[in-house]
Amino acid sequence: MSVDLSISDIRKVYKQKSLDEKDVKPNPIEQFKIWWDEAIGANIDEVNAMTLTTATPGGIPSSRIVLLKGIDKEGFVFFTNYHSRKGREIEANPHAALLFFWKELERQVRVEGRIEKIDAADSDRYFHSRPIESQIGAWVSPQSETIPGRNFIEERKKETAEHFKDKEITRPPHWGGYIVHPHTIEFWQGRPGRLHDRLVYSKKDNGWSMSRLAP
Ligand SMILES: Cc1cc2nc3c(=O)[nH]c(=O)nc-3n(C[C@H](O)[C@H](O)[C@H](O)COP(=O)(O)O)c2cc1C
Repeated sequence: MSVDLSISDIRKVYKQKSLDEKDVKPNPIEQFKIWWDEAIGANIDEVNAMTLTTATPGGIPSSRIVLLKGIDKEGFVFFTNYHSRKGREIEANPHAALLFFWKELERQVRVEGRIEKIDAADSDRYFHSRPIESQIGAWVSPQSETIPGRNFIEERKKETAEHFKDKEITRPPHWGGYIVHPHTIEFWQGRPGRLHDRLVYSKKDNGWSMSRLAP
């Protein structure tokens, strides 16, 4: 492999913080909320942007960014098109991974778990809280399909806006939320010399266990 030094010389020393077993919560969702509040406090841009990885039943993975829209003891919620590539992969293989990288805090959180659709009523509630333009957008875009050109979208946008003129925009049945129920959550804190802190929680029958991984 030829190494392009202008790339290979890019590196950063992580030295802001550390992560100690005695300072973390026994429940990783509660620990996530602490880090979440700190990320909000640090004014991280698009703090809720997370990488979602899905895979085909054969194990071929695909990743993309989606926005976290809710978190509770059950898991992590985002919204999308159920007919999209990710939607089709989730339908066939209900295992997913999420990744947050909050570089301003030198932190990464990895989440793995089973994924399923949220209740239609919850999707309806969130759909109607979105700006009108986004509600129309959910009808307009056959997400992940090949389309003939940008004009296809612009035309459908006009038609859809006309169709719903003076009417409530209903949620498309192919658009809604998913929840990832985590069975594994890892918290990573960057440390000097690449000797980072990694604490991983695994779900057991009677709660969560936590251990430290080598960096
Ligand atoms: C910052 C950012 C936020 C995004 N948020 C979402 C989202 O919440 N839901 C969504 O379906 N796509 C979102 N996207 C677009 C996805 O990354 C992706 O292009 C789209 O979902 C199609 O993915 P797929 O073809 O793998 O299904 C976002 C992209 C970016 C860069």
